[in-house]
Amino acid sequence: MTMLAVTVGPPSPNSGALEKVPEPDPAEGSILCETIAVGVDGTDNEIVEGKYGEAPPGTGRLILGHESLGRVLEAPAGSGFAPGELVVGFVRRPDPEPCDSCAAGEWDMCRNGLYTERGIKGRHGYLSERFRIEPEFAVKPDPALGRLAVLTEPTSVVAKAWEHVERIGRRAVWEPSRALVTGAGPLGLLGAMLGRQRGLDVHVLDVVDTGLKPKLARDLGATYHAGSLDDVAGLFDVVIDCTGVGPLVFHAIDHLAPDGVMCLTGISPAGRTLPLDVDTLNKQMVLNNNVVFGSVNANRRHYEQAADALAWADRGWLDRLVTRWMPLAAWMEALGRRDGDVKTVVEIGRI
Ligand code: BGC
Ligand code: ZN
Repeated sequence: MTMLAVTVGPPSPNSGALEKVPEPDPAEGSILCETIAVGVDGTDNEIVEGKYGEAPPGTGRLILGHESLGRVLEAPAGSGFAPGELVVGFVRRPDPEPCDSCAAGEWDMCRNGLYTERGIKGRHGYLSERFRIEPEFAVKPDPALGRLAVLTEPTSVVAKAWEHVERIGRRAVWEPSRALVTGAGPLGLLGAMLGRQRGLDVHVLDVVDTGLKPKLARDLGATYHAGSLDDVAGLFDVVIDCTGVGPLVFHAIDHLAPDGVMCLTGISPAGRTLPLDVDTLNKQMVLNNNVVFGSVNANRRHYEQAADALAWADRGWLDRLVTRWMPLAAWMEALGRRDGDVKTVVEIGRI
């Protein structure tokens, strides 16, 4: 038996193809799922462009896709999963050594870089008609979410960011009230949603001033700003950057309140340089007790937080966040950016 999958041959650019591949290897997990939906993001684009990604050892081809939603076809007794249930598989697997973090289930904090990631680094992803998953690397989303549960993985990334912001905040007496999210893409908007769920006064900054993004931000109860950070008044207790735009990241430090914490979640191509008064920046951060930290990936706790947050979220709002549902045959179009896109999802099966 074979199935259809989108595969790539990193680091070759534009090597993506929809092709027939063998059924998922039982070594990939005891639970067999039919794939319902797979979200695509910038990481997938980089992999297709040959700038990122790594095939499993010895194969040369990698099945793409890391934002999963499947429905169980077969699950062994005692696995905690039953046929018909929805599942979301995790992206990262601990390194084999493992380092202290991975040994403690915090593979998102891996210290030796030997971790693997499904659809990204050394392990097949989910962009295929079926996939397998290990019960210990999966969560059950709220069934009422239906296909929108495909948003669990991107939400887990910002759930981790918020969790770490709060852990850092607890170093002192801290009652955050104002938060800024830079970037109104899917991650930024989901990050803003988590801020609103915490009851914070959330501000979202992006470059566009028309279309769906401002509306989605405002419908969360957040304040939307288009253009320059200099036009945004007041200081922020929390900043979550979802742009990876270096100059903006450093500019945002200026807008941190005393004791303020800033989390960086984005990356962008290297090479931008900036004249920067680093002594003033240093002084400001010292005198304000500021923390600026990076955050990547997510562990089980964050997927559970994401599943809870999505269960609480406004279904209609989540539905508008996904601006395109594309069939597997149109995978290439799905990866291409279009004006007005917020989130694109490849829809493979029906619920
Ligand atoms: C994924 C993360 C992953 C990161 C780096 C992101 O697109 O959502 O899970 O750790 O890429 O590979
Ligand atoms: Zn590790």
